[in-house]
Parts: sequence; C-alpha cells; structure tokens
Amino acid sequence: MNETDTLVVEGLNGARKIKGTIAVNGSKNDALPALASSLLFQSPLTLTNVPEIEDIERLSTLLIGLGFSITKDKKTLTLDASQLHGATLDRDIAKKMRASIILTGPLLARQGEVHFPHPGGCVIGERPIDLFLDGFTQMGAKVNNRAGMYHLTTADGHLHGTEIFFRQQAVTATETFLLAGVLARGRTILKNCALEPEITSLGNCLVHHGAKISGLGTTTLVIDGGPLLTAKNPTYEIIPDRIEAGSFLILGALVARELIITDCEPEHLEAIIFCLQSAGAKIEIGKKQVIIRATPRQSYRALTIKTHEYPGFPTDLQALMSVFLTQARGESRLFETIFEGRLGHLETLARMGANVSIHNQHQATIVGPTPLVGRTVISPDLRAGLAYLLAGLIAKGQTVIHNVHYIDRGYERIDERLRALGLDVKRQH
Ligand code: EPU
Repeated sequence: MNETDTLVVEGLNGARKIKGTIAVNGSKNDALPALASSLLFQSPLTLTNVPEIEDIERLSTLLIGLGFSITKDKKTLTLDASQLHGATLDRDIAKKMRASIILTGPLLARQGEVHFPHPGGCVIGERPIDLFLDGFTQMGAKVNNRAGMYHLTTADGHLHGTEIFFRQQAVTATETFLLAGVLARGRTILKNCALEPEITSLGNCLVHHGAKISGLGTTTLVIDGGPLLTAKNPTYEIIPDRIEAGSFLILGALVARELIITDCEPEHLEAIIFCLQSAGAKIEIGKKQVIIRATPRQSYRALTIKTHEYPGFPTDLQALMSVFLTQARGESRLFETIFEGRLGHLETLARMGANVSIHNQHQATIVGPTPLVGRTVISPDLRAGLAYLLAGLIAKGQTVIHNVHYIDRGYERIDERLRALGLDVKRQH
C-alpha cells in the first residue's frame, strides 16, 4: 500500500452543510469502448471529454503496446492505429482490468488473431467471459488456452458475420461484438443486447464514421461489415458519466443543503432520480443539470432497490445507495441481480454502525436511520470505495480509506473535487 493510496475523511456527523456546484466528467464506460473503437480506423481518431482516470491510462498503455501512437491534451486523446503490429495484450495490465476484454473483438476482426489473459479488475463477483468465447467461436474463430493465455485465431484472417443470441444482457459483450461486426465479413445480428446509453453512444459514433449498423437503442443490432473506417469531424465526444452523476446525487442527498450537478444528461438518470424522489428527496431537473436540495427536518423513507440492466437501477450505484438507505426511516430491501459478489460493502457499513442483514449473495435488508461512526476501511472495488467515502462524510469522526487506487480507476481527482465543495477529504502524503 503506498502513501497516496489513502484518503482521510472528516465526517459531518449527519449535518447537511454543503452548498455548491460540481461538474460531471465524461463517462468511463463510454470512453473505454471509444478507445477500443480506434482499432477499427485507418486514420487517427480523436476523442473529447475523456476522463483522466487510471482505467483510461491502462487501456491506453495496452494500445501503445500494440503499436498505437496516442497524443493527449487534457481531456482530448488522439489515437493512431496505423502502425498497429501484433495482437497480444500485455498479460500483467490486461489481467488487472476487466475492460481490456473489449479490445479482443476489434483486434480479432482486424488482425485475424488475438492473445489475452483472463481479465481481472474489481472484485465484484465471478465475471466469466463465456459470452465472448462463444460469440467468437460462432463467428469462426478457434479458441485455445495455453499457459494462462487465450489464443483466438481465424482460418482466413477474418471473422464472419452470423447471428448471436446473448443468453444474458451484457454491456461489454454487446460492445465487443458491435465493434467486431464492423470489420467482419458479411452481416452480424446481435440479439438480447444490453441497452446502456454507452452502447448507443458507441454505435452512433461508428455510424457517423461510416459503419453500417441498425437497431441502435434496441435489443437487436444488425451490423454489415466493411473496410476500416476513416475518421470524420466531429470526432467522438464522450457522453457524461451517469454513474458519477448518480453518485453526486446521493452525495447531495446526504450532505448538501443544495448541490447543483452540471454537465450531466438527466435522461440517463431516471432510475436514481425516481428512487431518491420516492424516498423524499427534492430534485429539480434542468437541461444538462440536476439540483438536489435538502428540506428542513428531512427524513428519508425506506426503499426497495432491485438492480437491473438499463434503464433499471444500475448495479454501479447499489453500494452508494446502501449508504443512503442507512439514513432512511424503516426497513429497506436490497436485491443485487447483476453480480453475486457485490454486497461485501455492507459488512463494512455495519462496522460503521449500520443495521444490516445480509440474507444471501444477492439480498440484504438495511434498517434505518442509524448514525455512522468513522472507521479505518479498505476499498475492495471502485464503487464500494466511493460508498465508504460517502459513509465517512456522514459519519461522526474520522474515516481512513485504504486502497484508494480503486476509486481513482473511475472518479477523477475525487478528493480535490470534494474539497472544492467544502468537504474535508485529504489524500495522505
Ligand atoms: N456475464 C457472463 N458472461 C460473460 C459476460 C458477462 O455471464 O461472458 C455476466 C456477468 O457475470 C454479469 C452480467 O453478465 O452477471 C452482466 O455483466 P456485464 O457483462 O454487463 O458487465 P461488464 O460489461 O463486464 C459493465 C461495466 C460495469 C457494470 C456492468 C453492469 C464497463 C467497462 N463496465 O461491465 O461497470 O457494473 O457493465 O452494468 O462498462 C464499474 O464501472 O464500476 C463497473 C463495474
């Protein structure tokens, strides 16, 4: 654990003091597939509004290892794949990052082969890759696994379009096969696709640059494969991060008199806005912003939260919502339907004073409101890490959070941005 891997949070002991504005960054989960999409281009692709976070740096490093040249100017990245060589993802980096799997589709489609390790990442459950291996096999690839690396090859250097039915809606799998289909021979039909806005954003960008895709925004995508794409203006603007915006809404509900969240897309926030409003939060929806205000003597009501694919309640906000529910009156129920290892944070919240019962890997109840007390905690993944930060902010006393690199994977300079709101969050140096 290095020194900058720790945050020290001074709790407000339930006070709602903050009045301020916070801007939402570009979406991590849109930027990652956008970077991968540059593998489909014969000319440099420029991305704007890219968040400056660890996951983007890691994916960039993987691309550089494949021969890319990447130039960066603050939040603008230009990716040039013209010197692409090889098709092997660096084992150590790819193992640390689940999202590295997204490179496999466009690489296999462009190079006719790809070599990669089983991807790792945040500890939130099993995270198998069977949908990928099955889909590539259906598109004509042969799969081998030697010495911990998958080797996928094609007989004639190409993937071939076919019909793929995903047994389960899956975000990165949908994106990976959308990308693969753009360079595959013939027509690829993807059924039971996920509907997350990041997928539509990726598809719209590809269409803008010449790809032939129909059905965007529905569960069936049809892609007619063709040659490498040529980048056009405007290039690719990463959409606002709906999970970051949702995180700030929960933050506002817990610590703010008024928090104005700007640079967001309220249409992508319906589930979280609906839940917070049902609990009694006062939210005003603007054009590219939302405002959350405290009401005098506000006491939130308990809720039932069931995570669901978009447009349902996002699993990525479940840990943060758990913190909110510790402050709601009555018995709240949590049902995590997407991952089977994503309730671990509740044990830590219990150590901080929350009244939680974990019934199984998917279900728990939280009885509130309970005051929380500061503790020393270890962040197990990105979203649980931010949940501890929120819990620390409403707690009494000091909370020390280790393993902050998990939070840095997805939230840019979170300590600085929270300090700018007047919150006491320091990185230990
Ligand atoms: N699944 C399989 N087999 C596969 C692939 C997925 O069974 O081959 C299962 C998963 O185990 C899970 C379900 O399908 O039970 C859905 O997972 P999905 O594939 O949709 O997740 P993902 O694409 O790996 C993305 C986000 C996650 C987010 C999930 C769900 C990115 C880079 N990651 O992951 O984001 O939790 O969708 O919305 O887009 C985060 O940002 O903190 C994060 C983990």
